[in-house]
Amino acid sequence: MAERNGTCLRLAGPSSLPDSTTVHAMLGQSVEFPAQNDAPGCPLPPFHSRPSGRHKDVLMNAPLLLSASPRNGNGDTVVRLLCRWASETPSATLPDVRFLRDFRILPCTACGFCATHPGRCALDGTAGDQAGSLLHTIHQTSRLIVIAPVWFYGPPAQLKALVDRAQTFWEAGDGASTTSGRTAHLIFTAARQNGPRLFDASGLILRCFARQLGFDVPGEPLTLRGLDAPDDLQHTPELLERLRLWSQAQLGW
Ligand SMILES: Cc1cc2nc3c(=O)[nH]c(=O)nc-3n(C[C@H](O)[C@H](O)[C@H](O)COP(=O)(O)O)c2cc1C
Repeated sequence: MAERNGTCLRLAGPSSLPDSTTVHAMLGQSVEFPAQNDAPGCPLPPFHSRPSGRHKDVLMNAPLLLSASPRNGNGDTVVRLLCRWASETPSATLPDVRFLRDFRILPCTACGFCATHPGRCALDGTAGDQAGSLLHTIHQTSRLIVIAPVWFYGPPAQLKALVDRAQTFWEAGDGASTTSGRTAHLIFTAARQNGPRLFDASGLILRCFARQLGFDVPGEPLTLRGLDAPDDLQHTPELLERLRLWSQAQLGW
């Protein structure tokens, strides 16, 4: 199991949240979120990043939290709480965390390269593009948890861009047919209190994405409504309780 202690690093704001490189450069350190999350009445602790020197081994076994909001808001609260509960559960492996906003994801151009070059994308590594390496990281993990806001009844553009780049996996044909026992879970936040189909498109798109990367997607997404301002979840006890129960039931933390 991963080590849980380390020095504390305060981050100045959302733009300085750890990217994947920084997270692993800080291995063995705990990361404290910006002041916004440290408001009175919200005693969220820092989450813990990975211990150093074990990146590859840990990556294969640790759950991966992929947070798709461009802001430090409700999705970040979900990340922090899941990390906290994992750290409080002795049998749990500490999750790895990726904030999609820290990655440069170029949109698919339908160039057809991946159809003729299985498993490869013409954009990989182009102009700082990081989709290929992020998809590789996701493909390496045993358990994926995607946390995403609903934007116009679907995923935010950057997440949809990442999904579209998984066309490489579809063309390679090694996704949906794989029964590896790897599981993906979906958590969606939205502002609206009503709308019976509010999460339908995001659910279908992310489920399809996860299947292409070889994940089973058991159960329904956890859907959290009524979250408009970035700190709304922190002040909504019934949703925090729902998240807690979902986490225990689905993740065992
Ligand atoms: C561009 C944009 C589009 C949105 N579209 C919807 C929507 O269609 N339905 C809805 O309920 N909320 C919508 N929202 C609100 C977000 O889903 C909601 O605030 C969510 O909790 C944000 O999560 P975050 O705090 O992690 O960023 C939208 C927000 C933005 C910025």
